[in-house]
Amino acid sequence: MTKKKAVTRLCLFVIATLLGAAATVRAQETSVRQRLSLNADWRFQKDDPRGSEGLLTYDKIKDWVTATGNEFVEPNAAKRLPASGDLGGGVSYTQRDFDDRGWRRLGLPHDWGIEGPFKQEYPGETGKLPWWGVGWYRKHFLVSPQDVGKQFYLDIDGAMAYATVWLNGDFVGGWPYGYASFELNLTPHIKPGADNVIAIRLDNPPDSSRWYPGGGIYRNVWLVKTAPVHVAHWGTYITTPEITKSAATVSLTASLDNNSTSASSVTVKTQVYEDGNSRNPIASSAPANIKIAAGASSKNTMTIRIDHPRLWSLKQPNLYTAITIITQNGKLIDRYATVFGIRTIKFDADNGFFLNGEHIRLNGVCDHHDLGPLGAAINTRALERQIEILKEMGVNAIRTSHNPPTPELLDLCDRMGIVVMDEAFDAWRRGKKKNDYHLLFDDWHEKDLRAQVRRDRNHPSVILWSTGNEIGEQGNEEGHKIAAELTRIVHEEDLTRPATAGANNLNAGYNGFQKTVDVFGYNYKPTEYGKFRQANPVIPLFASETASTVSSRGEYFFPVSVDKSKGRADFQVSSYDLYAPRWATPPDTEFRGQDEFPFVAGEFVWTGFDYLGEPTPYGEDSTTLLNFTDPAAQEQIARELKELGKIKVPSRSSYFGIIDLCGFKKDRFYIYQARWRPEFPMAHILPHWNWPERAGQVTPVHVYTSGDEAELFLNGRSLGRKKRDRYEYRLRWDDVKYEPGELKVVSYKDGKPWAEDVMRTTGPAAKVTMTPDRAQIKADGDDLSFVAVRITDKGNLLVPRAKNRVHFELTGPGEIVAVDNGDPTNLESFQSKELNAYNGMLLVIVRTKAGKAGQIRLKALSEGLAGAQIVIAAGAVR
Ligand code: GAL
Repeated sequence: MTKKKAVTRLCLFVIATLLGAAATVRAQETSVRQRLSLNADWRFQKDDPRGSEGLLTYDKIKDWVTATGNEFVEPNAAKRLPASGDLGGGVSYTQRDFDDRGWRRLGLPHDWGIEGPFKQEYPGETGKLPWWGVGWYRKHFLVSPQDVGKQFYLDIDGAMAYATVWLNGDFVGGWPYGYASFELNLTPHIKPGADNVIAIRLDNPPDSSRWYPGGGIYRNVWLVKTAPVHVAHWGTYITTPEITKSAATVSLTASLDNNSTSASSVTVKTQVYEDGNSRNPIASSAPANIKIAAGASSKNTMTIRIDHPRLWSLKQPNLYTAITIITQNGKLIDRYATVFGIRTIKFDADNGFFLNGEHIRLNGVCDHHDLGPLGAAINTRALERQIEILKEMGVNAIRTSHNPPTPELLDLCDRMGIVVMDEAFDAWRRGKKKNDYHLLFDDWHEKDLRAQVRRDRNHPSVILWSTGNEIGEQGNEEGHKIAAELTRIVHEEDLTRPATAGANNLNAGYNGFQKTVDVFGYNYKPTEYGKFRQANPVIPLFASETASTVSSRGEYFFPVSVDKSKGRADFQVSSYDLYAPRWATPPDTEFRGQDEFPFVAGEFVWTGFDYLGEPTPYGEDSTTLLNFTDPAAQEQIARELKELGKIKVPSRSSYFGIIDLCGFKKDRFYIYQARWRPEFPMAHILPHWNWPERAGQVTPVHVYTSGDEAELFLNGRSLGRKKRDRYEYRLRWDDVKYEPGELKVVSYKDGKPWAEDVMRTTGPAAKVTMTPDRAQIKADGDDLSFVAVRITDKGNLLVPRAKNRVHFELTGPGEIVAVDNGDPTNLESFQSKELNAYNGMLLVIVRTKAGKAGQIRLKALSEGLAGAQIVIAAGAVR
């Protein structure tokens, strides 16, 4: 062979090898896991097809539905259901060839209830919105012929409620609990190379919730494709058994499923990356060779050492990503990512809660899942905004009352440094509503609880598993047995976090219930902490639910009474933060309990944000209460009372929030900020100072400050300097006589000036102003700008009692998705383009359109006022 020929042949060999390598890479890429959003382009229809009503109700098909998720209770059960024959075959909507072109097209997440309309006659307890009933969703999707041999899974993060699913006319499974995430195996029913049709029936029983639950597929939906051998659903469990400054031991147990028809030998290993660096692994486990029988699963524990670990903490929520890799004959067949953090937690009966050895008082809030005017439909930016506002107040903990949250909430808490009490149920076997979870408890509690812990146990933010809230069975032995069983289930799934429950029954701290949990949570018992500790010296204690103070943003009623049942008018509650239902207290009372008994690990206030439904103290749908202050309204309501013997209550959302339904701060925000951010200089005056009808009348002034002393001035005259006493959390000037002008407070800390606040009497309403929370957002069809709209006087001061009607116009690549004003009695549609201000403020939520970058122009017009216009830039997504 000549030299030249030899060179040519070598080149050819190299090229051939390279081509081969490229082909392998391509094959590998398509053969490994894909998790595709399935949110786009669904078809939706309310109610069953005529003639088929009720044929598919849960009681009729329960045997098949309850077989779903058997793998949670029988570790070796395959994800297969008993032969379902032609279940649903007689109902046209399940069928592949049903013509759904006439149905409404929409994208997920979707909440059919939030579209309204509000109706006075609907229950206020669930928001006066139509969330109940049957709804159908259908989705067409193509499966490539190259996908033959793959496994297909449908992952639903949450569907409200009683979901049942068909693929191409075959029944696939279902999951009734509307707050659960679940996976269904589509593989046996998939048609590669063809149009595939998923049909999902939801069925929301009326009288099944104590708050607005929403209706529909209100969380994200995914299509997951894997090779036959793959990491199982939620198939990794990471713990960090040893953490020192110099190294952390990470233990990752991966469950691998072999869904092929032959035994498979594979190699598995896990590499760890620092968050944000997907190129260079910083540590790796040793590869393990394993053999998995056909149809079987295998658990493999890998140990990884991380040098100089960067701990997850509230201030520095450092994260890592573990990539579990499965190879077969040298070929990559699965890559599965698990985000985790390295941190220690401890609850201690003497000293409360510790994160990485540092004492942290839990400054927490309870929140329901709705996003105010956006309803239950999950939106990550809306959740992120909520957490930003909470953090500004000093919140470091969230309780997901009273159900498993959307997974995005936990991702955000991981990234934003918030700890989470992850709750399962609001009822066990004893119901609170006719159709609530108690109907499912026996068949589903084990699956639901195991599924929740398995889904959430790698999140560093999660520090507590709560098995229930104010459970009816706290008082009896049967209940204690259930409580112990639920704690056992939690322990079987995760031993690294304590189990708890929120107890409102005083006796639950003494009657044995307290021994069924690892950490005991009292709801609304600030004077009981000392006695509990005496009786239970080794059980850590925290306040799982506190305060339930009620108020409406910007409302103040006189005279100011300290009787907590007062402060009511106009179906609103005065914002002096002194009012609460029978079982509840002003914030101050709980602060005192926490300060007197510092072994209590902290509190979760009811609630961070107002939510739809549960409008206590106006929770009844009719009343004989004549509480309107406006003479015309009084007259009308008096007539109604005479004619009907009762008055219809307009309230549709809660008064409990520290922050209103729009995300606007009530006064209460500042009493918590003063306490939870003691190093942040702040002072806050209430009420507003526009009381023309109160000249010369006593108009108490309260001040919240992180200082310890303050002096109040009215029109430059000192009204006295006051110091906070022990167990005092607000400064009060209760005998101030109103005169228009300027109220100013100067607060002090340790004798030095610390913070100031000013409240001025305003001129008449002169203009509308708009302030977007973000003026640059992503053109991805999800991103939102929350625009605060204010009615101000000429000098830009918020006119505190303004009710002006504002009309909105939008041009450019965006849409107005919702408006609201934070008034719990407002029954105008959230989808309206105009609304009255409530105490000077409104909110407009603007959403981008996917793939449409450009300038969104929003105009606000109001009769007699100067209007406003803003531009929001929708930027292309790279
Ligand atoms: C609690 C209950 C919450 C909410 C709250 C209102 O007892 O756990 O879900 O109803 O009362 O104060």
